[in-house]
Amino acid sequence: MLPRVSLILGVFASIAAATNVTIINSCGETVWPAIFPAANGGEIGGFELTENDYLTIILPEGYSGRIWPRTGCDASGNCETGACQGGINCTSPAAGGPTLAQFTIDGYAKFDYFGPSSVDGFNVPVAITPDYGTECNLGPVICTGQDEGEGCDETFACPTGIHYTVGFCHS
Ligand SMILES: *[C@@H]1O[C@H](CO)[C@@H](O)[C@H](O)[C@H]1NC(C)=O
Ligand SMILES: *[C@@H]1O[C@H](CO)[C@@H](O)[C@H](O)[C@H]1NC(C)=O
Repeated sequence: MLPRVSLILGVFASIAAATNVTIINSCGETVWPAIFPAANGGEIGGFELTENDYLTIILPEGYSGRIWPRTGCDASGNCETGACQGGINCTSPAAGGPTLAQFTIDGYAKFDYFGPSSVDGFNVPVAITPDYGTECNLGPVICTGQDEGEGCDETFACPTGIHYTVGFCHS
């Protein structure tokens, strides 16, 4: 009986701790977001996102990985920038070049650690915006160019459990 009860509680706990991240494409053209390791329990590694469209993905507690834009992709996932293995539905990090939105969810002491990074390179402006509120009152942190922008290549922390927006070409 007891093991069964704790298993059920464990399932609820992991659902409660999941973090939603909404990816928005404000570039004037289609981009192909990629996520490694894949989001939504390994289901979403990458997809096509048309101009002004958005999609919300779910990262589990303990997740550590990155979201990045790919540009100029064909149907097989060959891209001008940000290409990975696995085609459109990525199964590896990018070989090199793209701007990254890095996330560690519930990394330490119930805090998420995140930041936009151009350390691997820069292709498209990437902004991360935690939901405003008393718990984490930070504006967008953004890489607008290689090592350029408010908060580019820095790491930020917010209490686990809030929602984030990752904006490509956010202005
Ligand atoms: C996250 O997204 C899921 C699925 O869309 C939704 O059911 C859930 O309420 C969201 N959680 C939060 C904290 O926004
Ligand atoms: C993407 O890959 C994952 C892992 O292999 C798989 O579970 C999922 O169904 C794939 N999604 C699509 C849209 O092909």
